[in-house]
Amino acid sequence: MTDLVRLEHVHAGYLAAGREVHAVHDVTLAVHDDEILGIAGESGGGKSTLIKLIYGQVGHPLHLFAGTATAFIDGEVVPIAGLRPYWWDFISYIPQGSMSVLNPVLRIEDQMLDAIPPRHRHRGRPALRAALVEMFEQIGLQADVLRAYPHLLSGGMRQRVLVALAAFLHPRIMLADEPTTALDVVTQKRILLLLRELQMRMRNAVVIVSHDLGVHYQLTHRIAIAYAGEIVEVGPTEQVFAAPLHPYTRALVDSIPRVGDDARREGLDGRPPSLQEPPPGCRFHPRCPVSQDICRRVAPELTTKAPERQAACHFC
Ligand SMILES: Nc1ncnc2c1ncn2[C@@H]1O[C@H](COP(=O)(O)OP(=O)(O)OP(=O)(O)O)[C@@H](O)[C@H]1O
Ligand SMILES: [Mg+2]
Repeated sequence: MTDLVRLEHVHAGYLAAGREVHAVHDVTLAVHDDEILGIAGESGGGKSTLIKLIYGQVGHPLHLFAGTATAFIDGEVVPIAGLRPYWWDFISYIPQGSMSVLNPVLRIEDQMLDAIPPRHRHRGRPALRAALVEMFEQIGLQADVLRAYPHLLSGGMRQRVLVALAAFLHPRIMLADEPTTALDVVTQKRILLLLRELQMRMRNAVVIVSHDLGVHYQLTHRIAIAYAGEIVEVGPTEQVFAAPLHPYTRALVDSIPRVGDDARREGLDGRPPSLQEPPPGCRFHPRCPVSQDICRRVAPELTTKAPERQAACHFC
């Protein structure tokens, strides 16, 4: 198991009225080669910020405040802030809300070829186009989609185009932020299967952000649970769903409706805290059913609780 990216005690986020807002707070997490890693959690928990950080999209508005964030590229150690030259080849990114990133007045072909970094342009447009056609065929898109304008395509097809672009240069890591959120369930499933197929073919790392636990259950090998900017649990997906350690994970898993089970779902009271004024101690303590005095005072570290399983809780 090789690490492609490693974050250690990373604090990152934004400046609001001159103050640091840590949308990523003390996060330690690695992305391994040949895995599908999921990042789950409620809205505003810092999932997109985390994925942008892994992509190395730091500078403005996202700042890396503290900690170390490193990528390992063919034996070379590259700080995450220096990843830009490796975008597309080593790491690609499908941003959240990407359905709207396609330019409506340009044919798919032109915008895809324009998006390919200049260092690949020596291959010439006809050769790149032929490679795009090949990639399209592999993922079940007809070559004539290349000549289409985005508005002629369904949401599922547009998302497929973006997946094709992300996979085009066979990156070691593909990041996808809520890749299926705007799609109907049938199309959702197709996109998830496509991502899985590509990962199996390339044996690379795919990182999927989704608030939908069903997506993680179907697709991911390992899952990281984000809460209020922190990672509160990490582990093999099946194990995390079968026996969650952290009370927040337990609440999320318990809230999944199951066919044939009429029991009332408890859900989770309250809302995640503001990242500008997070509570002291454990950030989850105001909503936690098992919190004790120590939880109000001392922030629990993410620690190994069982092989391959980590959680940040004083009582699990
Ligand atoms: N460009 C920005 N400038 C300032 N604050 C931001 C910016 N982008 C995000 N934030 C803040 O950072 C926090 C985390 O946001 P983020 O988008 O990472 O969460 P998320 O888990 O992806 O949420 P969602 O599930 O809704 O996509 C939020 O409080 C958000 O308001
Ligand atoms: Mg998001």
